[in-house]
Amino acid sequence: MARHADALVFFGATGDLAFKKIFPALHALVSRRGLDIPIVGVARSGKSVEALRERARASVREHGTLEDDAALERLLGLLRYVDGDYKDGKTFSKLREQLDGSERPVHYLAIPPSLFPVVIRQLSEAGCARGARVIIEKPFGRDRESARKLNETISSVFDEASIFRIDHYLGKETVQNLVVLRFANTFLEPLWNRNYIESVQITMAERFGVQGRGSFYEEAGAIRDVVQNHLMQVIGFLAMEPPATTYNEALRDELVKVFRQIRPLTAGDVVRGQFDGYREEKGVSADSGVETYAALRLAIDSWRWDGVPFLIRAGKCLPISATEVVVDFKRPPLSRLAPGKGNFLRLRLSPELNVSLGARIKRPGDEMESEATELALVDRPTGEVMSAYERLLNDALEGDPTLFARQDAVEAAWKVVDGVLASPPTVRPYAPGTWGPAEAERLAADIGGWESPEERT
Ligand code: BG6
Repeated sequence: MARHADALVFFGATGDLAFKKIFPALHALVSRRGLDIPIVGVARSGKSVEALRERARASVREHGTLEDDAALERLLGLLRYVDGDYKDGKTFSKLREQLDGSERPVHYLAIPPSLFPVVIRQLSEAGCARGARVIIEKPFGRDRESARKLNETISSVFDEASIFRIDHYLGKETVQNLVVLRFANTFLEPLWNRNYIESVQITMAERFGVQGRGSFYEEAGAIRDVVQNHLMQVIGFLAMEPPATTYNEALRDELVKVFRQIRPLTAGDVVRGQFDGYREEKGVSADSGVETYAALRLAIDSWRWDGVPFLIRAGKCLPISATEVVVDFKRPPLSRLAPGKGNFLRLRLSPELNVSLGARIKRPGDEMESEATELALVDRPTGEVMSAYERLLNDALEGDPTLFARQDAVEAAWKVVDGVLASPPTVRPYAPGTWGPAEAERLAADIGGWESPEERT
């Protein structure tokens, strides 16, 4: 059993991720779980610990979810700060002093991946890596090859059991619910296969654009940003075999098996789109060919899923913000009674948790005809009792790797998209506020078209 970390160090302490996610998560951990270890921020701002405390206070006010001033004061009391350049060995000597006595620190690299090699090396040389764990954030490379290289750098100092790769989708309540829903209900499992399921669609729609992250997006694009990681995890949970309950790595073993069974995509399986106006964003090239939208059709070559298409759509500047899975069941034989769609399971992952069953019932009147109805099994404004970051940070501090991406899974997921990233199909324009380029219709033509999530109140 891993032991709880005795210090948390986070690099990039004055950055965006720390401001939006890390401080609020730490605040929640102090409030709800009594977190009480030194927390050392590292950055090069030329400022002091007082300035860091002010930033933490502002962050919790702006992005925190809990009203707990006493916990905020306790968090500020735990904060320490090391200012300096990551290339400078003195920064790490100062860090070692701050870590005085710590035997099991966790180092959170909330910094661009280009800085990982230098920070990892310095941690090792300064003796700060002994007994330590490291947390890194996606993107884990830009393709399989660079993911391997990145991993070589990190694993030159940390072993796999000490590397915690955050894909925050794994920390979401509604995503974890997919596993519970599937395996805690007798009625689902007999239907959950190629004999009863016609198709599976996942839509991750965002109403907003790139929100000032133009230069990041130019390097990423929708496939690298959310498909290779977040949506692949969703597919993994939807398609996996029941994990054994007898050993710790069972869940991650089942996930990687799914990724390995997904047929690598070819250009005909993918439609890429770019919203009109993207090229005018700051940091974006005037002739950018980067996609802000992607639609893909995946095939899973497994006993359970052979012949069942898994479709993904993800994009910025779409009509609403919502992430939804629709599992369509095959038509019953008496198809006169079930003309259009109507046998499905809808799993809404955000902004609310909603699970509903689409069924057809008799339309009132003389004729033996049916109409569609939808029964909500659960409908909650938000399933997030705690944020994904609170959950994952806590797991990393406790040393539980279950909900973190494992290197073999990262590489297997890259293998699915590598081919289309290397020779991508032409990017198609689409108007903001629409469901993306019309070319995407072709991918869903044989399954009755795309199901677009609707605004709910
Ligand atoms: C991030 C992507 O990883 O996930 C963003 O970089 C995206 O582009 C975000 O908007 C979506 O996360 P969530 O939790 O809001 O669905």
